[in-house]
Amino acid sequence: MKMTPALLIVGALMVFWASSFIIVGLPSLTMKDEPSDIWRQLTPDEQAGLRLYVQNGCSYCHSRYIRINDWDIGAERIAQSGDYVGQEPAILGTERTGPDLSQEGGEHPDDWHISHFNNPRFTSPISLMPSWKFLGAEKIRQLTAFVQAMGGKMADSRMKRQNHYKRAAIAAFEAGPDGNITWLHSQVPEVWRKMPNPYPATEASLLRGKRIYQDFCINCHGPIGDGQGMAALQTYPPPLNFTTLRRHLVENKYIGGIFYYQIMNGVTGTAMPYFKKHLESEKIWDLSNYLGVTFLGFTDANTDPRGIDAAYEEEWKNNYQAPELPGQPGK
Ligand code: HEC
Ligand code: HEC
Repeated sequence: MKMTPALLIVGALMVFWASSFIIVGLPSLTMKDEPSDIWRQLTPDEQAGLRLYVQNGCSYCHSRYIRINDWDIGAERIAQSGDYVGQEPAILGTERTGPDLSQEGGEHPDDWHISHFNNPRFTSPISLMPSWKFLGAEKIRQLTAFVQAMGGKMADSRMKRQNHYKRAAIAAFEAGPDGNITWLHSQVPEVWRKMPNPYPATEASLLRGKRIYQDFCINCHGPIGDGQGMAALQTYPPPLNFTTLRRHLVENKYIGGIFYYQIMNGVTGTAMPYFKKHLESEKIWDLSNYLGVTFLGFTDANTDPRGIDAAYEEEWKNNYQAPELPGQPGK
């Protein structure tokens, strides 16, 4: 067969059609138009938020689907085509500079999102997401409504949980510092309330804790731990003023386990996020040491009872020299 320009063009087109069919045609044949079991109609506000999401190029940094091969990034569900029925255009994005948002609804209460959209650095100090303050309050409200609907009925049930605890958190905050601390700690199971920090508060632990505090916490709880970071402008109840915890120490010997539990799980209903997906266990204990020593002048680090030993090697036990603990009362 002779290679003529016409033959080349026909050949090239055939390769193009074949690959288009495999990449676009085949997947679209597997798509269904029936709603999935978590689907629900978007409200007009949420629709407006979806438009803003598309117009502002959120999909350049965020995806809106989880496939079997990204199951491990901590999502709640594998996405199905029926999740997006009626969303025109359903731009799912391919980039993950930021986290996947397919199940974002109810991960945080509204006040966290409003603060985050106004300036992502308020809630997430080292974030590179741009500020959306220029959109104005009304559009940020619509964007928040849409983000809280991502995940359909699963998002709705998480939102219900957030709103339930939000009422309790606000009532506790308005009852004053004593009532607030009592409520906060009633959210922590008893075994954690009686647990000291198993890691010694060494200089290195405190310096690590300080660094992690600057990267994740400082713009909410503030540089001096008084809860007056920039996020306090838009979150209610505002970030905790750690110095109010000094009252807790009057009757209680331990704070390490409470700090760990709250940092790991967050305080549902408030802007306090959970960090179990961001921080490894030792980093959370380092933070716990840092908060106690820096803001309360107190640490229960490396004291008895050792509910959980951070590391345990029977043979080597007697060779271990406990370092001097900084920040103990009276030192
Ligand atoms: C330049 C990249 C970029 C763009 C554009 C961007 N984001 Fe983000 N986004 C991020 C990064 C990085 C994070 C993680 C850090 C943080 O919390 O800010 C994030 C976090 C988020 C979160 C919080 C997720 C969580 O629960 O931790 C939401 C919600 C979000 N973005 C929504 C949006 C929306 C809506 C838009 C468009 C208006 C948008 N983003 C545009 C990069 C981006
Ligand atoms: C978006 C703002 C925000 C960020 C970021 C944040 N917090 Fe919080 N934090 C809060 C709020 C709000 C509360 C609850 C205040 C209330 O209900 O009075 C809270 C409560 C807490 C508590 C509960 C204390 C107790 O005795 O029960 C701890 C501990 C805590 N935060 C530590 C941290 C640490 C450590 C970080 C960083 C890894 C962090 N927070 C990041 C807003 C934030």
